[in-house]
This record gives sequence, C-alpha cells and structure tokens, in this order.
Amino acid sequence: MGILTLNDICFSYGKTPVLKDISYDFEKGKMYCICGKSGAGKTTLLSLLSGLASPQSGSIEYDGKNIKKIDKYNFRSKYIGVIFQSYNLLTKFTATENVVLSMDIARVKKVNKKQKAKELLLSVGLSDAEAERPILQLSGGQQQRVAIARALSYNPDIILADEPTGNLDKETEAEIMNIFRNLANAGKCVILVSHSPAVAAFCDQKYELTKI
Ligand SMILES: Nc1ncnc2c1ncn2[C@@H]1O[C@H](COP(=O)(O)OP(=O)(O)OP(=O)(O)O)[C@@H](O)[C@H]1O
Ligand SMILES: [Mg+2]
Repeated sequence: MGILTLNDICFSYGKTPVLKDISYDFEKGKMYCICGKSGAGKTTLLSLLSGLASPQSGSIEYDGKNIKKIDKYNFRSKYIGVIFQSYNLLTKFTATENVVLSMDIARVKKVNKKQKAKELLLSVGLSDAEAERPILQLSGGQQQRVAIARALSYNPDIILADEPTGNLDKETEAEIMNIFRNLANAGKCVILVSHSPAVAAFCDQKYELTKI
C-alpha cells in the first residue's frame, strides 16, 4: 500500500457529479501524472488529495490513516506540499521570505530558516541575487521554482503540483521535470496534474480521468 490512497472516491458539486469511484494508489519514490481533458476533474481531485475538499463517499488515506482523522492543519502544512497553478506566492515579499514564511507556518524548528531557504532556492536553480528579489521581479519559470522550494521547505512526503510546466518553454519544462525526478529519486511521492503528453511520458505512472 502506498503513502496516499484513494478508495472509491465520489465527488459532486451540488447535484453535478465530477468524480465517480476513483481508486488510485500513490507510492513514495515515484512520479505520477493525473491527466484528462479540460473539465474531467483534475483540479477537483487535487483539492481532495490536498485536504481542501472532502469526498461525499469513499476515503482518502495517508500512510494508512483516514485523512479525516488527521489534523487538517498538520496535513496541509507538514505532510503535503502543494504547488498551485497560479503559484500563490506573496508577491510583495522576496523569494527567500516566501520560503521562510512557509517554514514558520509549518512551525519548523531548530534550523536557520533563512539559510535553509537559500539552500532550497539554490537547489531549484535560483541564484543568491534572485532569491533576494521580490516575487514580481522574477520570471514565470523562476516563480515556479520558488513555489517548488516553498513546497519543500518543511520536507513533506508528498509533492502535488497543478500544471507545473503549463506556462514554460520546453527547455525550462525539462529542467523543472528534472527537479521533480530528483525529488522522487530522493524518496518523495510526486503527483503532477498535467495536460502535457511530455509530462505524462516522463512520469512512472499515469492516471487518466474521464469526464462523467
Ligand atoms: N466550484 C465549483 N462549482 C461547481 N462546479 C465546479 C466547480 N469547480 C469546478 N466545477 C466543475 O467541475 C468539473 C471539473 O472541474 P475541474 O476544475 O476539476 O476540471 P479540470 O480537469 O481541472 O479542468 P482544466 O483542465 O480545464 O483545468 C467541471 O465541469 C467544472 O465546471
Ligand atoms: Mg484544472
């Protein structure tokens, strides 16, 4: 059994069903791609996986425990790192400050947070000077890297990303995918939502959602 498991999930918005009887299993050390046409329910599934929404039936288990029984705050700020399509970075703050704030929220202790933030940003390809710039003075690809560093700041087991390379050129897409591959090789469970066949081909396993 994997680190994250969906058992017969059903989800509707009001009377409109979106997901029906979904059972997926996600293991550590692997990369997954959730794909499907526009409106198939990919972002909805990501909200369920990250604990932002709950299924009407079925269960989601993290490390064998129903996530309903896990404190939501801990789950979302410690066990799972989410990279949103719109990055959701605090634009008035620098890249380093964004990563430090995320460690504060997760109540990370006993580390020099600023130094750790810089190391993380360096590991995803941001220079020292870029790390000190406010978010709005960074390019889209650089902001994507900050969002990844932020998701890694509290060392979660699971990384979830919605269209992580949606706005990037092919070369930057390949660099970002390599960052995810290294994370999976280091034992993380990496779950990507993407339309891109190139992203799906790079992953170890693909789950295809169909519109119902
Ligand atoms: N808050 C909401 N209330 C009602 N219906 C919604 C809501 N959010 C999404 N939907 C509907 O649920 C379905 C699935 O939406 P979702 O955003 O999960 O699709 P998606 O696969 O991520 O699509 P895309 O590739 O376009 O991002 C769509 O038909 C959408 O219109
Ligand atoms: Mg979507």
